[in-house]
Amino acid sequence: MTDTLRQSGFTTTADGAWWRDAAVYQIYPRSFADSNGDGLGDLPGITSRVPYLKELGVDAVWLSPFYPSALADGGYDVDDYRDVDPRLGTLDDFDRMIEALDAAGLRCIVDIVPNHSSDRHVWFREALASPRGSAARDRYIFRDGLGDDGELPPADWVSTFGGPAWTPVGDGQWYHHYFALEQPDLNWDNREVRDDFLETLRFWSDRGVAGFRIDVAHGLAKDLPDILPSQAELDALPIDGSHPMWDRDEVHEIYAEWRELFNSYSPARTAVAEAWVEADRRGRYASAEGLGQAFNFDLLESDFDAAQFRSVIESNLALSEKSGSSSTWVFSNHDVVRHPTRYGLPPVDGRQVRQGAEWLLSRGREPVVDVDLGLRRARAATMLELALPGSAYLYQGEELGLPEVADIPDVDRQDPTFFRHQGTEIGRDGCRVPLPWTSAGPSFGFGTAAPHLPQPAEFGRLSVEAESGDSDSTLTMYRRALEIRSRLREGGLEWMETGNPQVLAFRRPNGWVSVTNFGDELYELPDGELLLSSSPVVGGFLPGAATAWLQG
Ligand code: NOJ
Repeated sequence: MTDTLRQSGFTTTADGAWWRDAAVYQIYPRSFADSNGDGLGDLPGITSRVPYLKELGVDAVWLSPFYPSALADGGYDVDDYRDVDPRLGTLDDFDRMIEALDAAGLRCIVDIVPNHSSDRHVWFREALASPRGSAARDRYIFRDGLGDDGELPPADWVSTFGGPAWTPVGDGQWYHHYFALEQPDLNWDNREVRDDFLETLRFWSDRGVAGFRIDVAHGLAKDLPDILPSQAELDALPIDGSHPMWDRDEVHEIYAEWRELFNSYSPARTAVAEAWVEADRRGRYASAEGLGQAFNFDLLESDFDAAQFRSVIESNLALSEKSGSSSTWVFSNHDVVRHPTRYGLPPVDGRQVRQGAEWLLSRGREPVVDVDLGLRRARAATMLELALPGSAYLYQGEELGLPEVADIPDVDRQDPTFFRHQGTEIGRDGCRVPLPWTSAGPSFGFGTAAPHLPQPAEFGRLSVEAESGDSDSTLTMYRRALEIRSRLREGGLEWMETGNPQVLAFRRPNGWVSVTNFGDELYELPDGELLLSSSPVVGGFLPGAATAWLQG
């Protein structure tokens, strides 16, 4: 078995589990760097930017899907799980990318999309060409339609991107797709499906990947009764392990098999679950018998608010201790409004963030974003995140303080959310706009052609080039923060008394202190050497919407 990881001098924690406190940088490959001038980012583009990633100071990268795909859902509609989209490169390019990352001491996690394939996958084509009841149809979820000739859907279920979740195939049968109709759900009761995914995990593990991010990890096991419930009935069922669709207990049998495979490698491969489940049910996904880690999106869903942050941090640290995993922290990814924009939106119904983000996405009204406040809060939140025990998952471009791009012309939009809601929801394209590398020039250094999503003019001043030479830039803050974190990250945390409900402070065992001021008033910092701050500290006072790190 090839194992490129074993050869390099990675930093690991005492038990060798590097992922426990890693800073992982999510790359959305089509929007990272375009090496061949076709407007789409690609794998050689990533390879060419390994020095940048190294200098940034992250421990690993997570690649969103780079597999062949018609891009009905940004690559989460996979045609072939064991190949590279020819527009993004070849398997040789993949190997070269892993070699370059490996030489720089950076690990690579790849996205696995097991809940559904694309409708162009060879299996789905075979299912369409095969009769009802065939082995080919059994790999997916087919049902007879209702009505005399099956002309009515088997249920009124709505897909997550809008529109019906059942689509007819012309012979009275319908297939289920929780997401877009180009993403038919696989049947995980089918042994061939299970074996094939084991093969895929082996394929990428053998090519040197350190781990996997598992898409919709809570959705694979399904148990649909003969008479399907209505959408309203389905929504009313508790999600306690027995729901027909979500977070069923049997899903963990699948991950136990995967774990066996992961542990046959040295070092063991790891995985992080994208599991939208109740916090107290996350632990099974994150356990050592399961995937190893699970995303916690609780901070992402919190307002910029001291009490909410504290409660989320306390509960998640306790949960990760219970599961034997480590906590994960996330503020931005390819599915949500970037955090500087979220934090700059006015509150709606008393909430700063969540409804605000939905409001922006739903085009109800013109968004009014306080750009300066949003960025100050985002920088403060990120520094707090990077001081926490556990792993931090960072999303490409957040190190530049990129905002959500809200005004993409309709003609350029790509997200199925936009199309399936007939344009009433703008979807997720605004966080997927290609990165600006240079202050000027075509596509701000992303490539030589027009990028696949248009970049706003302000990307020039937010580019890597512009921010690299600026000691106050967000990029400089991330680089310094990641460097300090890499030296001081061991151990748990102890909360400190601040005497101010708007201020959170905690200390790590080696004296590293993080203080975040969520309010508007100046706060006098405790004694200690100032290591870094997200906004200038003047005369020992921390301004509002800011974090400072001290060595106490
Ligand atoms: C979650 C992914 O993060 C998202 O981008 C995708 O649309 C859905 N899963 C479906 O695969």
